[in-house]
Amino acid sequence: MSKIGDKIKIHPLYVRIFHWINAVAMVLMIMSGWQIYNASPLFEWLEFPRSLTLGGWLGGGLQFHFAVMWVFVINLLIYFFVSILSGHYRRSMFPVTPMSILRDLGKALRGRLPHDVGHYNSVQKISYIGVIVLMLTVFLSGLAIWKSVQFQTIGLLFGGYEGARLVHFICMSLICAFIVMHLVLVAIVPSTFIPMITGWARKSAPVEKGVDHVA
Ligand code: HEM
Repeated sequence: MSKIGDKIKIHPLYVRIFHWINAVAMVLMIMSGWQIYNASPLFEWLEFPRSLTLGGWLGGGLQFHFAVMWVFVINLLIYFFVSILSGHYRRSMFPVTPMSILRDLGKALRGRLPHDVGHYNSVQKISYIGVIVLMLTVFLSGLAIWKSVQFQTIGLLFGGYEGARLVHFICMSLICAFIVMHLVLVAIVPSTFIPMITGWARKSAPVEKGVDHVA
Protein backbone atom coordinates (compact mmCIF):
# COMPACT_ATOMS: atom_id res chain seq x y z
CA MET A 1 0.00 0.00 0.00
CA SER A 2 1.36 3.46 -0.90
CA LYS A 3 1.15 6.06 1.85
CA ILE A 4 2.42 9.62 2.12
CA GLY A 5 1.68 11.31 5.44
CA ASP A 6 -2.04 10.94 6.03
CA LYS A 7 -2.72 10.13 2.37
CA ILE A 8 -3.18 6.67 0.90
CA LYS A 9 -3.47 5.55 -2.69
CA ILE A 10 -6.90 3.99 -3.20
CA HIS A 11 -7.46 3.83 -6.98
CA PRO A 12 -4.84 2.25 -9.29
CA LEU A 13 -3.92 4.20 -12.42
CA TYR A 14 -5.53 1.71 -14.83
CA VAL A 15 -8.87 1.95 -12.96
CA ARG A 16 -8.79 5.75 -13.21
CA ILE A 17 -7.86 5.72 -16.90
CA PHE A 18 -10.64 3.18 -17.60
CA HIS A 19 -13.14 5.11 -15.53
CA TRP A 20 -12.81 8.48 -17.23
CA ILE A 21 -12.49 7.13 -20.78
CA ASN A 22 -15.53 4.97 -20.03
CA ALA A 23 -17.57 7.90 -18.64
CA VAL A 24 -17.06 9.92 -21.87
CA ALA A 25 -17.50 6.90 -24.18
CA MET A 26 -20.68 5.82 -22.36
CA VAL A 27 -22.32 9.23 -22.79
CA LEU A 28 -21.42 9.30 -26.53
CA MET A 29 -22.66 5.71 -27.01
CA ILE A 30 -25.94 6.44 -25.25
CA MET A 31 -26.62 9.70 -27.14
CA SER A 32 -25.76 8.20 -30.55
CA GLY A 33 -27.75 5.08 -29.61
CA TRP A 34 -30.81 7.24 -28.94
CA GLN A 35 -30.37 8.79 -32.42
CA ILE A 36 -30.34 5.30 -33.99
CA TYR A 37 -33.31 4.20 -31.83
CA ASN A 38 -35.41 7.19 -32.96
CA ALA A 39 -35.09 6.07 -36.61
CA SER A 40 -36.84 2.79 -35.77
CA PRO A 41 -38.33 2.90 -32.24
CA LEU A 42 -38.91 -0.32 -30.29
CA PHE A 43 -41.85 1.27 -28.50
CA GLU A 44 -44.23 3.61 -30.31
CA TRP A 45 -44.72 5.68 -27.14
CA LEU A 46 -41.01 6.38 -26.72
CA GLU A 47 -38.88 8.76 -28.75
CA PHE A 48 -35.79 10.49 -27.35
CA PRO A 49 -35.63 14.32 -27.51
CA ARG A 50 -33.55 15.45 -30.50
CA SER A 51 -31.45 17.69 -28.23
CA LEU A 52 -30.22 14.59 -26.34
CA THR A 53 -29.18 12.68 -29.46
CA LEU A 54 -25.87 12.70 -31.30
CA GLY A 55 -25.16 12.51 -35.02
CA GLY A 56 -27.97 14.66 -36.49
CA TRP A 57 -29.55 11.80 -38.46
CA LEU A 58 -29.51 7.99 -38.62
CA GLY A 59 -26.27 7.78 -40.66
CA GLY A 60 -24.48 10.23 -38.36
CA GLY A 61 -25.71 8.38 -35.25
CA LEU A 62 -24.44 5.07 -36.64
CA GLN A 63 -21.04 6.57 -37.43
CA PHE A 64 -20.61 7.93 -33.90
CA HIS A 65 -21.88 4.65 -32.38
CA PHE A 66 -19.50 2.46 -34.42
CA ALA A 67 -16.49 4.77 -33.94
CA VAL A 68 -16.86 5.15 -30.16
CA MET A 69 -17.77 1.43 -29.83
CA TRP A 70 -14.08 0.51 -30.33
CA VAL A 71 -12.93 2.86 -27.57
CA PHE A 72 -15.69 1.64 -25.22
CA VAL A 73 -15.07 -2.08 -25.83
CA ILE A 74 -11.24 -2.08 -25.84
CA ASN A 75 -11.18 0.08 -22.70
CA LEU A 76 -13.77 -2.13 -20.95
CA LEU A 77 -12.04 -5.42 -21.81
CA ILE A 78 -8.58 -4.20 -20.72
CA TYR A 79 -10.03 -2.97 -17.39
CA PHE A 80 -12.05 -6.18 -16.92
CA PHE A 81 -9.17 -8.60 -17.48
CA VAL A 82 -6.53 -6.54 -15.64
CA SER A 83 -8.95 -6.21 -12.69
CA ILE A 84 -9.42 -9.99 -12.58
CA LEU A 85 -5.71 -10.77 -12.94
CA SER A 86 -4.55 -8.13 -10.44
CA GLY A 87 -7.09 -9.22 -7.82
CA HIS A 88 -8.76 -5.77 -7.87
CA TYR A 89 -12.28 -7.24 -8.05
CA ARG A 90 -11.52 -9.86 -5.39
CA ARG A 91 -10.19 -7.20 -2.98
CA SER A 92 -12.58 -4.32 -3.73
CA MET A 93 -15.92 -5.85 -4.74
CA PHE A 94 -16.05 -9.14 -2.84
CA PRO A 95 -17.28 -10.55 -0.59
CA VAL A 96 -20.79 -9.21 -0.99
CA THR A 97 -23.78 -11.08 0.42
CA PRO A 98 -27.56 -10.46 0.31
CA MET A 99 -27.44 -9.80 4.08
CA SER A 100 -24.65 -7.21 3.77
CA ILE A 101 -26.51 -5.47 0.92
CA LEU A 102 -29.75 -5.31 2.97
CA ARG A 103 -27.83 -4.07 6.03
CA ASP A 104 -26.01 -1.31 4.10
CA LEU A 105 -29.15 -0.37 2.16
CA GLY A 106 -31.05 0.00 5.45
CA LYS A 107 -28.25 2.19 6.87
CA ALA A 108 -28.14 4.26 3.65
CA LEU A 109 -31.91 4.88 3.75
CA ARG A 110 -31.61 6.08 7.35
CA GLY A 111 -28.66 8.31 6.35
CA ARG A 112 -26.34 6.31 8.60
CA LEU A 113 -24.01 4.65 6.12
CA PRO A 114 -20.47 5.83 6.87
CA HIS A 115 -18.15 6.19 3.86
CA ASP A 116 -14.85 4.60 4.85
CA VAL A 117 -11.99 5.90 2.75
CA GLY A 118 -10.82 3.18 0.40
CA HIS A 119 -13.67 0.81 1.21
CA TYR A 120 -16.72 0.24 -0.98
CA ASN A 121 -19.86 -0.53 1.03
CA SER A 122 -22.06 -3.44 -0.10
CA VAL A 123 -24.48 -1.19 -2.00
CA GLN A 124 -21.56 0.24 -3.98
CA LYS A 125 -20.09 -3.23 -4.52
CA ILE A 126 -23.29 -4.71 -5.93
CA SER A 127 -24.00 -1.66 -8.10
CA TYR A 128 -20.44 -1.67 -9.55
CA ILE A 129 -20.62 -5.45 -10.17
CA GLY A 130 -24.07 -4.88 -11.73
CA VAL A 131 -22.95 -2.09 -14.08
CA ILE A 132 -19.87 -4.07 -15.18
CA VAL A 133 -22.14 -7.05 -16.05
CA LEU A 134 -24.52 -4.64 -17.85
CA MET A 135 -21.66 -3.13 -19.89
CA LEU A 136 -20.44 -6.61 -20.90
CA THR A 137 -24.03 -7.58 -21.84
CA VAL A 138 -24.59 -4.37 -23.81
CA PHE A 139 -21.36 -5.19 -25.69
CA LEU A 140 -22.42 -8.80 -26.49
CA SER A 141 -25.99 -7.89 -27.48
CA GLY A 142 -24.55 -5.04 -29.58
CA LEU A 143 -22.33 -7.54 -31.44
CA ALA A 144 -25.39 -9.70 -32.14
CA ILE A 145 -27.26 -6.69 -33.63
CA TRP A 146 -24.27 -5.26 -35.53
CA LYS A 147 -23.17 -8.48 -37.28
CA SER A 148 -26.24 -10.66 -36.89
CA VAL A 149 -24.98 -13.32 -39.33
CA GLN A 150 -21.38 -13.56 -38.10
CA PHE A 151 -22.42 -13.52 -34.41
CA GLN A 152 -25.53 -15.72 -34.79
CA THR A 153 -24.59 -17.89 -31.82
CA ILE A 154 -24.42 -14.88 -29.52
CA GLY A 155 -27.74 -13.72 -31.03
CA LEU A 156 -29.33 -17.05 -30.14
CA LEU A 157 -28.35 -16.50 -26.48
CA PHE A 158 -30.61 -13.44 -26.53
CA GLY A 159 -33.43 -15.16 -28.42
CA GLY A 160 -32.46 -13.92 -31.90
CA TYR A 161 -32.09 -10.46 -33.45
CA GLU A 162 -35.21 -8.89 -31.89
CA GLY A 163 -34.33 -10.39 -28.50
CA ALA A 164 -30.81 -8.95 -28.72
CA ARG A 165 -32.28 -5.54 -29.59
CA LEU A 166 -34.54 -5.65 -26.54
CA VAL A 167 -31.72 -6.79 -24.23
CA HIS A 168 -29.49 -3.99 -25.64
CA PHE A 169 -32.23 -1.45 -24.88
CA ILE A 170 -32.90 -2.80 -21.37
CA CYS A 171 -29.16 -2.76 -20.51
CA MET A 172 -28.88 0.83 -21.80
CA SER A 173 -31.85 1.85 -19.60
CA LEU A 174 -30.35 0.18 -16.51
CA ILE A 175 -26.94 1.78 -17.21
CA CYS A 176 -28.70 5.18 -17.38
CA ALA A 177 -30.36 4.44 -14.02
CA PHE A 178 -26.94 3.48 -12.60
CA ILE A 179 -25.37 6.73 -13.89
CA VAL A 180 -28.09 8.86 -12.24
CA MET A 181 -27.73 7.00 -8.91
CA HIS A 182 -23.91 7.08 -9.17
CA LEU A 183 -23.85 10.83 -9.72
CA VAL A 184 -26.29 11.43 -6.83
CA LEU A 185 -24.04 9.35 -4.53
CA VAL A 186 -20.90 11.21 -5.67
CA ALA A 187 -22.74 14.51 -5.02
CA ILE A 188 -23.67 13.28 -1.52
CA VAL A 189 -20.06 12.21 -0.78
CA PRO A 190 -18.01 14.65 -2.96
CA SER A 191 -14.75 13.69 -1.20
CA THR A 192 -14.73 10.53 -3.37
CA PHE A 193 -14.38 12.58 -6.58
CA ILE A 194 -10.77 13.89 -6.44
CA PRO A 195 -9.32 10.45 -5.51
CA MET A 196 -10.89 9.05 -8.70
CA ILE A 197 -8.69 11.59 -10.56
CA THR A 198 -5.48 11.56 -8.49
CA GLY A 199 -5.73 8.09 -6.94
CA TRP A 200 -4.96 9.54 -3.49
CA ALA A 201 -7.31 10.04 -0.53
CA ARG A 202 -6.88 11.47 2.93
CA LYS A 203 -6.99 8.71 5.51
CA SER A 204 -9.84 9.71 7.82
CA ALA A 205 -11.39 6.34 8.52
CA PRO A 206 -10.42 2.67 8.87
CA VAL A 207 -8.78 1.38 5.71
CA GLU A 208 -7.84 -2.20 6.53
CA LYS A 209 -10.32 -3.73 4.09
CA GLY A 210 -10.53 -1.99 0.89
CA VAL A 211 -10.69 -0.70 -2.56
CA ASP A 212 -7.18 -1.57 -3.73
CA HIS A 213 -4.59 0.12 -1.57
CA VAL A 214 -2.14 0.29 -4.35
CA ALA A 215 1.58 -0.11 -4.25
C1 HEM B 1 -19.03 12.30 -14.70
C2 HEM B 1 -19.47 11.09 -14.41
C3 HEM B 1 -18.92 10.23 -13.30
C4 HEM B 1 -18.39 10.60 -12.09
C5 HEM B 1 -18.24 12.00 -11.51
C6 HEM B 1 -17.99 9.38 -11.41
C7 HEM B 1 -17.38 9.29 -10.17
C8 HEM B 1 -16.91 8.14 -9.56
C9 HEM B 1 -16.20 8.09 -8.29
C10 HEM B 1 -15.90 9.31 -7.44
C11 HEM B 1 -15.92 6.79 -8.03
C12 HEM B 1 -15.20 6.25 -6.76
C13 HEM B 1 -16.23 6.03 -5.68
C14 HEM B 1 -15.57 5.76 -4.33
O1 HEM B 1 -14.34 5.73 -4.21
O2 HEM B 1 -16.33 5.59 -3.35
C15 HEM B 1 -16.40 5.99 -9.14
C16 HEM B 1 -16.25 4.61 -9.27
C17 HEM B 1 -16.80 3.87 -10.30
N1 HEM B 1 -17.58 4.37 -11.33
FE1 HEM B 1 -17.94 6.31 -11.77
N2 HEM B 1 -18.31 8.31 -12.20
C18 HEM B 1 -18.89 8.78 -13.37
C19 HEM B 1 -19.35 8.05 -14.43
C20 HEM B 1 -19.40 6.65 -14.46
C21 HEM B 1 -19.98 5.87 -15.53
C22 HEM B 1 -20.68 6.46 -16.77
C23 HEM B 1 -19.82 4.56 -15.19
C24 HEM B 1 -20.28 3.34 -15.92
C25 HEM B 1 -21.37 3.28 -16.65
C26 HEM B 1 -19.09 4.52 -13.91
C27 HEM B 1 -18.73 3.37 -13.26
C28 HEM B 1 -17.96 3.30 -12.13
C29 HEM B 1 -17.41 2.07 -11.60
C30 HEM B 1 -17.59 0.66 -12.18
C31 HEM B 1 -16.65 2.42 -10.46
C32 HEM B 1 -15.81 1.48 -9.60
C33 HEM B 1 -14.46 1.34 -10.32
C34 HEM B 1 -13.53 0.32 -9.68
O3 HEM B 1 -13.17 0.48 -8.49
O4 HEM B 1 -13.10 -0.61 -10.40
N3 HEM B 1 -18.87 5.80 -13.51
N4 HEM B 1 -17.02 6.85 -10.04
